[in-house]
Amino acid sequence: MAYHIPALLKESIDGLIIKPDGIYVDVTFGGGGHSMEILNRIQKGRLIAFDQDDDAVVNVPADENFLLLNQNFRFLKNNLLFNGVQKIDGLIADLGVSFHQFDEPSRGFTFRQEAPLDMRMDQSTGITASHLLNTIDESSLADIFYYFGELTNSRRIARDIVAFRSSGPLSTVQDLIDAVGKLAPYRQENKFYAKLFQSLRIAVNHEIDYLKEMLEQALDILNPGGRLVIITYHSLEDRVVKNFMRTGNFEGVEKKDFYGNGETPFRMITRKGITPSEEELSENRRARSARLRIAEKI
Ligand SMILES: C[S@@+](CC[C@H](N)C(=O)[O-])C[C@H]1O[C@@H](n2cnc3c(N)ncnc32)[C@H](O)[C@@H]1O
Repeated sequence: MAYHIPALLKESIDGLIIKPDGIYVDVTFGGGGHSMEILNRIQKGRLIAFDQDDDAVVNVPADENFLLLNQNFRFLKNNLLFNGVQKIDGLIADLGVSFHQFDEPSRGFTFRQEAPLDMRMDQSTGITASHLLNTIDESSLADIFYYFGELTNSRRIARDIVAFRSSGPLSTVQDLIDAVGKLAPYRQENKFYAKLFQSLRIAVNHEIDYLKEMLEQALDILNPGGRLVIITYHSLEDRVVKNFMRTGNFEGVEKKDFYGNGETPFRMITRKGITPSEEELSENRRARSARLRIAEKI
């Protein structure tokens, strides 16, 4: 089983416009597919990669231009500074989880396999999905399902979870399915569970907050002309990336200076984003929700 199959590989790495002696960062190393392609194109340059999951270490290539930091990308700037890097020529992020994480039964990311409800990408820290489900109040639970999963019956889901946990904790994938399974719309059960599990994963890993922290730091350290290349997998994170690339803030409101000139820090390279071709999808169905956005720092 492959650790991961990279989505939009050529399109994303072409989008970085790699200089052979440039300094690049891959903040989501995973199976190293995007990193390998960058390493193929640099000669004297450097590639520094991040992954918060210990498992990714097995994929480290033997290449003197490469360094993997087993860190959360929310600490981008400090980690780079610690390694003597102040400015970079390009950054790629391929968000979400790897196939390895998703398919590994013990991780609890999918409704398709019985497992403890963990869902942490970094298993050395933070709280598990099970802990979250068993401890937070009903309205915060509903918010997670509504905002991160776009589930319209979020309040009912939260109510049923709170009722279920009054007779014992939710510990496994099956417990969660038992608690809310009757709310899954007929013939759309898989879609319902996919959204439910996705919303919990986003909450457990603080995915939206950490993405924002990373983007702000990336803007700070990119050289003028440096590229930001981001692949997202759902509309919520895509909106964050799109607004930031268009305006330099997450509200998507363009700021103007005293004279009324726009202060947008990026030039958008992709207007609507790039999605996988039919050819790619025929080989990798899991790339179907991928959307690539590229911007260049002015
Ligand atoms: C979709 S996979 C990347 C796959 C990779 N591009 C490849 O070609 O194999 C996402 C990876 O990013 C890591 N990741 C997600 N959020 C992270 C974060 N905040 N900090 C560090 N790593 C993160 C995950 O652990 C996972 O291994």
